[in-house]
Amino acid sequence: MDRPIGMFDSGFGGLTVARALIDLLPDEHLVYIGDTGRYPYGPRPQEEVREFARQIAWSLVKDFDVKAVVVACNTASAAALDDLKAELPVPVIDVVEPGADALVRATRSGHVGVIGTVGTIGSGAYDRAVAATGADVQLTAAACPGFVEFVERGQTHGEEVTILAERLLAPVKDAGVDSLLLGCTHYPYLARVIGEVMGPDVVLVSSADETAFVARDELARLGLLRAPGGEVAEHRFLSSGDISWFADLGGRLLGPELRGALQWHPN
Ligand code: DGL
Repeated sequence: MDRPIGMFDSGFGGLTVARALIDLLPDEHLVYIGDTGRYPYGPRPQEEVREFARQIAWSLVKDFDVKAVVVACNTASAAALDDLKAELPVPVIDVVEPGADALVRATRSGHVGVIGTVGTIGSGAYDRAVAATGADVQLTAAACPGFVEFVERGQTHGEEVTILAERLLAPVKDAGVDSLLLGCTHYPYLARVIGEVMGPDVVLVSSADETAFVARDELARLGLLRAPGGEVAEHRFLSSGDISWFADLGGRLLGPELRGALQWHPN
């Protein structure tokens, strides 16, 4: 099955999922859309994020003929997953459920935490996803407004980020969690600061690898994996914002594949 896998995020965050997917499935073609022209999604109303998500997902299906869509954004998953699953003619894979599964597997004490955007945490998507695992855990959730903006500016460490992290992570720290899910795909880029603030005894869980495993299993189950040994896989990256910034910062975050980034226009 030679068609590409489609992925999207509000900007650079989904590149953490793209990295995991490329590493796990090196033979798969990939099309990634980063909606950097309209980021951040976190503070926007759910209906607006849902419309953006539908617009991008349909573009992936119609303009790029993708065989599956990976919603590499927690905020978009929280706002639009049910609609996307109902209306798209291809399988839809999200980051919330794989992240919740990984979180409950990682804990020893049963005290777990999740951090995400205002939209994700406010939606209760993680409360529902963790409850759906059936695990006997106590979840503390905290929104971290401002984290995404730091990443999109390329500022992933330093005093300013640390001061904000100390303030925003206080609720999960005070709750004594032993495992913390980075419930926003931008946050792995801040893992150094988050890890320093939380301390060495707290395991940081990123949903990127877990999502890649779920994507592989789902594509395999449906017989949609590309056969190995053909032409080298093509990875296309598009952005709705400033392309030179997308290529530059994306190149530093993910790698040289971003150098040929193209413009994407919402229609
Ligand atoms: N990477 C998105 C997420 O996982 C960030 C959303 C935003 O743009 O605020 O939630």
